[in-house]
Amino acid sequence: MANGTKVLRPDYLRATVGVVVGTRPGIVMLAPVLQELERRGVAHFAIHTGQHYSPNMDSWIFDDLGLALPSYRVEGTSLRTSHGAQTAHMLEGIEAILLESRPRLLLVGGDANTNLAGALAARKLGIMVGHIEAGERSFDWSMPEEHNRRIIDHISDVLFTTGAKAEENLAREAVQGRIVCSGNPIVDAARSFAAAARARCDGDPHAAGVERYAVLTLHREENVDVAARLQSALSGVSRASMELGIETRFYVHPRTRKRLHEFGLESWASDLPGLQLSEPLGFLDFTAALCEAVLVFTDSGGVQQEACIHHVSCVTLRDNTEWTETVELGANRIAGVDPESIVDAARVALKSKRDWSVPFGDGNAAAIIVDCVEAVLDGSFGGR
Ligand code: UD1
Repeated sequence: MANGTKVLRPDYLRATVGVVVGTRPGIVMLAPVLQELERRGVAHFAIHTGQHYSPNMDSWIFDDLGLALPSYRVEGTSLRTSHGAQTAHMLEGIEAILLESRPRLLLVGGDANTNLAGALAARKLGIMVGHIEAGERSFDWSMPEEHNRRIIDHISDVLFTTGAKAEENLAREAVQGRIVCSGNPIVDAARSFAAAARARCDGDPHAAGVERYAVLTLHREENVDVAARLQSALSGVSRASMELGIETRFYVHPRTRKRLHEFGLESWASDLPGLQLSEPLGFLDFTAALCEAVLVFTDSGGVQQEACIHHVSCVTLRDNTEWTETVELGANRIAGVDPESIVDAARVALKSKRDWSVPFGDGNAAAIIVDCVEAVLDGSFGGR
């Protein structure tokens, strides 16, 4: 290909699919898709953007899930910290990889900067884009993830959705691509890895199941980058833990750890009654801890979904959620970061039944997605 190539000719593309990963939740969501591609012998490769790099956010997850390490990795992403610099660096890195590998289709999953960079790089080169978890909306225009989702959906050729609500959002916005209701591969992942996760607890007295406890994760920019919100959320969870007589295990995301340090709140947080701070766990250990918890407090989209799938009541420390079905089913309560609301929501959550039916598909998403991939690669996928 000549220097200065801007768009790849269709006949220059290879019958192979690229899969972009780079953040902890994205690796988990795409694991079943990578495994299904492997199982069927479909030509594929993975690209790691380098957005997440700490072992417990990255390499341990590949180990835990028995996944091969990606064939390509964008180096140097961790040095870029602003949204623009991080996204631009990944965009340029992925473009170079796509110019070499020339896949007919690139799959991205979710709403992180990693996925925006992957989708844009492919779109600009004339490579088809498939977006997994398309059509989700929080309608909160202050969130970087909301910008990413909307842009990715409007530049994708295939939009893999979790359910009817996402399809309505996409129809209302009149997206260009073809909508395929696949369900969410996070259900496939949660189900297929739950047994392995539980096996981790066997014989370990410190593992899940010993006492009644809750789990807390908190990492969203809008919560942890503002000292007052961070303090308010942690005070609320601490009060709820004390009032309900449970201990809460707080797995501190690297971003949150950094902010606690910058705000001079590290020892304040460590001294909060009812909270036990520790490093984030690998995926299987976290799943084991989640499955045995009586309650989860979180601002993560993925953890809200996983809690619902594993029938653990959730209190969401945000003012809204993309996953409104979890709220309608009684699996999730939106508490924001006001301490009073957190205590009230936790009290209700702890008393409520956990017998909801699981939304997000039937655990067959990877198979449906790979059916489409095969159709794109053999030329039988018609487009919109
Ligand atoms: C990103 C996603 C978010 C997703 C989350 C899962 C965007 C806009 N947001 O947020 O949707 O829910 O990942 O974790 O893409 N850090 C480390 N080690 C790591 C990763 C991050 O130390 O492996 C620290 C770094 O200081 C980094 C900061 O955390 O600058 C933020 O990481 P970044 O990936 O930019 O955003 P997240 O908050 O993780």
